[in-house]
Amino acid sequence: MLFRKKSNLVGLDIGSRVLKASEILETKSGHTLQRFGMLNIAYGAIEEGIIKDADEIAASIRKLFNENSFKTQNVAISVGGLSIIVKKISVQKMTEDLLQKSINSEAEQYIPFDINEVNLDYQILGEAENNPNHMDVLLVAIKKEIVNSYVNLIQMAGLNLCVIDIDAFALQNIFELNYALEDENIALIDIGASKTSLNILNGNSSVFIRDVTLGCGTINKKIVSLIDCSYEEAEQLKYGDQPDIISPDDVKEIILSVVDDWCDEIRRALDFFYSAHPDSKIKRIMLSGGGSYIKEFRELLSIETLSEVETINPFKNIQINKRNLGVSYLEQIAPQAAISMGLAIRKIDDK
Ligand SMILES: Nc1ncnc2c1ncn2[C@@H]1O[C@H](COP(=O)(O)OP(=O)(O)OP(=O)(O)O)[C@@H](O)[C@H]1O
Ligand SMILES: [Mg+2]
Repeated sequence: MLFRKKSNLVGLDIGSRVLKASEILETKSGHTLQRFGMLNIAYGAIEEGIIKDADEIAASIRKLFNENSFKTQNVAISVGGLSIIVKKISVQKMTEDLLQKSINSEAEQYIPFDINEVNLDYQILGEAENNPNHMDVLLVAIKKEIVNSYVNLIQMAGLNLCVIDIDAFALQNIFELNYALEDENIALIDIGASKTSLNILNGNSSVFIRDVTLGCGTINKKIVSLIDCSYEEAEQLKYGDQPDIISPDDVKEIILSVVDDWCDEIRRALDFFYSAHPDSKIKRIMLSGGGSYIKEFRELLSIETLSEVETINPFKNIQINKRNLGVSYLEQIAPQAAISMGLAIRKIDDK
């Protein structure tokens, strides 16, 4: 058909505190964000990427779609957390067909889960650096029960699941669309409420991916244990502007101790990368997710890693449909939208 519209989909980021959904239209003149919505979900419905209450989340997803009038039921989602392993491995050179047949046995030694219990995906990266008889393969393993739980969830929400990605790749996608490639190492780090995804890039290749269970929820937990309130109340108190309930100094102390732990954990992950790439330097860290709003964290991270720290703007090279969306609102929530934006630029027939 001559005027067939490119089939777009909604990028749906199912966070443990906040659902985010973006719908982008791609035309010859570039990408336009048509619709965007966020919705808080109930505490405990999902944690560290593991679905605990599918009914609750499905109802929230339906509400988000109704409130924002998305024009398609087709969605791309991503998963993150400890159920995912991404590793660059080196195998004997072979055809794609042969690799397809032998990937399970090749992967087995690198995956800390039972190989029969994971969905495996891979991408051949090219000849191995130090051995012309070997090739590098990027291996992605996700526990089958996690994939199935998300497939069921999207079905329960009445939507059509087209793409399952991982958080780290969605971040990379939106970074590459918005920022010029540099021949330097850039670390993309998304800190949400209960999980953190780290993806170190060199140019347009990902050289190290790691998900850990750090998140802003720890701040709430510490407030709860200090003054015995609910998590919902702690969410309001963490901004330090209710001195009659909790002193701003106590809030500050909690935040500083939490971000100190984050920086230690991130430095450990970066050290792991440096041990494999001793001559490399991570020039810049691009932060996203709710954790990136915390100024004390950005400052400490820069000091501890000796890298520049910046907050990602996923709308930088994207036009905004101003009839549907407020630009100043989008500027405010930009870092939290990064993963849903990276998902929204995927296409229905993507792998
Ligand atoms: N200004 C702020 N200071 C501190 N924390 C904040 C701020 N703004 C948002 N947050 C926290 O960010 C979190 C939400 O961020 P985000 O939307 O990235 O998480 P999520 O995607 O739902 O979680 P996850 O990816 O871990 O499942 C909440 O815990 C919220 O308290
Ligand atoms: Mg998130």
